[in-house]
Amino acid sequence: MGFWRLFTSILILNLFLSNSLSSAELSEIPTNFLNYAKQPEVVNLMVDARRRIHQNPEVGFEEFETSKLIRNELDKMGIEYKHPIAVTGVVGMIGTGEPPFVAIRADMDALPMQESVEWEHKSKVPGKMHACGHDAHVAMLLGAAKILQDHRQELKGTVVLVFQPPEEGAGGAKKVVEDGILENIDAIFGLHVSVDLPIGSVASRPGALLAGSGSIPQQTIDPILAASNVIVSLQHLVSREADPLDSQVVTVGKFQGGEAFNVIPDSVTIGGTFRAFSTASFMQLKKRIEEVIKAEAAVQRCNATVDFSPDNKISFPVTTNNKVMHKHLENVAGDMLGTENVKDMQPSMGSEDFSFYSEVIPGCFFFLGMANETRAKLASWHSPNFTINEDALPYGAALHASVATRYLLEFESKSHISDRKVHDEL
Ligand SMILES: *[C@@H]1O[C@H](CO)[C@@H](O)[C@H](O)[C@H]1NC(C)=O
Ligand SMILES: *[C@@H]1O[C@H](CO)[C@@H](O)[C@H](O)[C@H]1NC(C)=O
Ligand SMILES: *[C@@H]1O[C@H](CO)[C@@H](O)[C@H](O)[C@H]1NC(C)=O
Ligand SMILES: [Zn+2]
Ligand SMILES: [Zn+2]
Repeated sequence: MGFWRLFTSILILNLFLSNSLSSAELSEIPTNFLNYAKQPEVVNLMVDARRRIHQNPEVGFEEFETSKLIRNELDKMGIEYKHPIAVTGVVGMIGTGEPPFVAIRADMDALPMQESVEWEHKSKVPGKMHACGHDAHVAMLLGAAKILQDHRQELKGTVVLVFQPPEEGAGGAKKVVEDGILENIDAIFGLHVSVDLPIGSVASRPGALLAGSGSIPQQTIDPILAASNVIVSLQHLVSREADPLDSQVVTVGKFQGGEAFNVIPDSVTIGGTFRAFSTASFMQLKKRIEEVIKAEAAVQRCNATVDFSPDNKISFPVTTNNKVMHKHLENVAGDMLGTENVKDMQPSMGSEDFSFYSEVIPGCFFFLGMANETRAKLASWHSPNFTINEDALPYGAALHASVATRYLLEFESKSHISDRKVHDEL
């Protein structure tokens, strides 16, 4: 609290002294950027990039062609970048090169599934598909790059473009953080397309937005009875032990064992996922899952081994939106779309590796509408029928660019604040 009071007072002082833009001028930026994003030059850049990426989907840490495409586009715009970051990632920079630094992020990976949609730009790679919209996320961030580069004289600091390798389970964000990319960055924003929200609207919430997720123990136990008891007891963990206000989910999606109906198998393997909304309940759930498995196995005189990260899937923390950054998004999106089109949402059981950023620096993640009620309902995420409404691309690009530009005008870098604090104390 003390920190934010300090922050706010310096901010006001600074705006006053430097005679910055008036609030009317600030509120025009988002609408100007949306108009700019709807210009054919920007739309074509995004639609073209999105379709090329869609045709050649690449899964986790194999986004080599996607990465090359991004770098080519940044080269064409004259934007400097670092590469490789976390194998295939690209981190671009626009602006003064000085603080404050604000990051906007897109994920790049496709899913290992076959596309069912028959259209001109259908996936050309059997068994791989952009079924989560990350092709559109890359295109929107390229669109934002174009808007920002063309308005770079107006940037009062530096916008960092984070093109991140896999989001889907493999933890690209974790690797980006490990590569030290966040070191000087003051805040980060990210978005995900939504098939349910109307086009021209966004949704988010302050605080916990998306669940943390982990892979349930792949355990080998003997025999089927013990495994069945484990499954029943795991369900009781959620129904009896969990705080009803703190949603948790345990799903067992795999049960393997036995070759013939009349032979008791040597071992059974079960697997699944678990999710929770706070780090504390996530850790508690993880501990209880292991205890339950070991105990139920022991009752049947079986031996259980527990592996919390099968197939190299990693656990994601809870995605938590910083209250001040959420308010910033609300202000900027409200100026662009009208406050009635900035919606609050309930926390969702989905999970996002954006959480690796927002647990280190203030951040806000939000959903961007694609639904157009005059057209057919869009298929859900991870469906082989998933499609993107490309009309949403300018909204995503303009939101990214506006949130970042306004951040640089309205907030001061934490490095300045800490410098000043030290000087004051001296
Ligand atoms: C149970 O597993 C442990 C660890 O793998 C092993 O040392 C032990 O011998 C096993 N016990 C039985 C009864 O299989
Ligand atoms: C919704 O779809 C209709 C029909 O294609 C189109 O005319 C309209 O511009 C779309 N609305 C938005 C906001 O994109
Ligand atoms: C995909 O769409 C086709 C044709 O509309 C439909 O038959 C099929 O059931 C859909 N598949 C899924 C998984 O929704
Ligand atoms: Zn996904
Ligand atoms: Zn996704």
